[in-house]
Amino acid sequence: MGFSAADSHPSGTPSSAPKILVFDSGVGGLSVADAILAKSPAAEILYAADTAYLPYGVRPDAELKARIPDLLAALERRYAPDLIVVACNTASTLALPEVRAAVSVPVVGTVPAIKPAAEKSAARVIGFLGTPRTVEREYSEALIRDFANGCSVVRFGSADLVDLAERKLAGETIRPEAITAALAPMFAMPDADRMDVAVLACTHFPLLRAEIEAASPPGLAWIDSGEAIARRTLSLLNLECGSGRPRPTTVFSTAPDKLRPAAPAFAARGFSPVEDWDGPEELDD
Ligand code: DGL
Repeated sequence: MGFSAADSHPSGTPSSAPKILVFDSGVGGLSVADAILAKSPAAEILYAADTAYLPYGVRPDAELKARIPDLLAALERRYAPDLIVVACNTASTLALPEVRAAVSVPVVGTVPAIKPAAEKSAARVIGFLGTPRTVEREYSEALIRDFANGCSVVRFGSADLVDLAERKLAGETIRPEAITAALAPMFAMPDADRMDVAVLACTHFPLLRAEIEAASPPGLAWIDSGEAIARRTLSLLNLECGSGRPRPTTVFSTAPDKLRPAAPAFAARGFSPVEDWDGPEELDD
């Protein structure tokens, strides 16, 4: 199912460059890969998408908790990354300790940016837009308790926006009305008219940043965790920003047919074409 052309990239980055495995349910991790690529580290970047279980944001916790650590352990055995980025809020807020216990390399998770949002909000009202599972979790409750700093938090979970991001990366034109309709229930919530900062707490959503901003009231600033994750990743690997030409290589999917429409989006970032799906048996769904 996976495919690899890891040794054929022409960038000239030495093969000793550290390997970073970016993991998400679908294309969302590309927003994190973009943040890492923007820092131009001398690193190889592999991408793994669990499209067989996409979307994560509506799946029962028990199902994901049983699956994600095993999947990442299998990916670690197969690809031997130096670091794993769980580029998914839904997975990170549920199973980071279990993932860390299942693999031997450092793991960087994706946590909703509640703290920076609360620090930035002058109105003391912040938005929290994630998947339905992420916004309702105890992990998120604790984040709000510990870091919202007394701000009122407008929480909304959207599976529709995950689907729209998948479709956009598959080349579909996303109509503005679809984004407006997806966000309408959030903007109708109590206090929403006073929000001045809102968190894109699903890695799919920054892929729709322009569309989401266009559908939002003027003056509402949307923030995400991509840059912070990229910084943490580089620091754990002792990599310098701008130290080399990053080398996006392997793309793996548990259900390749569901990822293949996004092949041009991967190729545009320098990942090898999503063609030759022939991967480890142990990862078969
Ligand atoms: N991109 C993921 C996140 O950050 C999950 C989207 C989904 O599969 O529902 O939460």
